[in-house]
Amino acid sequence: MIYMIHINNLSYRYPDGTLVLDSVSMDVHKGEFVAIAGKNGSGKSTLLRHMNGLMLPSEGSVVVKGMDTIDSSFILNIRQIAGMVFQDPQSQFIGMTLEEDVAFGPENLGLPQEDIRKRVDMSLQDVGMQEYKHQTPGSLSGGQKQKVALASILAMKPEIILFDEVTSMLDPYSRGEILGLITQLHENGTTIVYVTHRLEELVHADRLIVMENGRITHNGYPRVILSQGNVVDSGFEFPPVIELAKRLCDSGFIDPACFPLSREKLMEALCQLM
Ligand SMILES: Nc1ncnc2c1ncn2[C@@H]1O[C@H](COP(=O)(O)OP(=O)(O)O)[C@@H](O)[C@H]1O
Ligand SMILES: [Mg+2]
Repeated sequence: MIYMIHINNLSYRYPDGTLVLDSVSMDVHKGEFVAIAGKNGSGKSTLLRHMNGLMLPSEGSVVVKGMDTIDSSFILNIRQIAGMVFQDPQSQFIGMTLEEDVAFGPENLGLPQEDIRKRVDMSLQDVGMQEYKHQTPGSLSGGQKQKVALASILAMKPEIILFDEVTSMLDPYSRGEILGLITQLHENGTTIVYVTHRLEELVHADRLIVMENGRITHNGYPRVILSQGNVVDSGFEFPPVIELAKRLCDSGFIDPACFPLSREKLMEALCQLM
């Protein structure tokens, strides 16, 4: 397996002394879809921001494709390889028009104008926003803004994309659209790290990491972790499908190894019981 991100005993302390990451070790492999979940304040955003050098360790190390984030000569390269999309789509705009906004990253890479134009067009097309390219960000809905934020990252041709609760401010329809785009990127080989507190979004993940108080409490297959009782203490709100599946699992009706994470899978499991 090829390591994209290798985190070893990472601790992070704010200047006021608050310890928010406590000796965290984890890896992300090439092509993986890793979900990170946990209560508010458990350290998810802080961990994610270490994965492209936006924040630097107080102790321990973060290595992205062989490059230690502490070495400042790697930082531009690391930021190009690992792009980040944030929770608030409004906060991510830099340009006057969408086109300008998406061009910002590639311009900083010093690419020729022609290449920049191609990248802008292609990224906006990938997220279905090419027809809006001359518009101002202010005229867009939350979901559209988040698509453009994603396009700005795609224009950098990243190998890893880090998503920090990107659907939390969106309506259910836009949430579905953004998740669809992310799933598609994953299928095309992009490595995904996806922070969420919505359990129903974990269906797409190859691996789930659960955080609590700056530590990793679980790291493994989503269905195995979710079928374990003790994960409830991590402060998740279980969607009805998972809640029902857990009860069936606890009562021995469903094999934990086949724990259904979606409505469709639960229906299949129920039909097999009858
Ligand atoms: N500037 C800061 N100074 C001190 N503590 C902070 C600062 N920013 C965030 N924190 C604390 O760090 C902890 C982890 O925050 P965060 O990584 O944002 O968690 P999450 O994304 O899981 O909600 C929280 O307890 C938060 O209060
Ligand atoms: Mg956060």
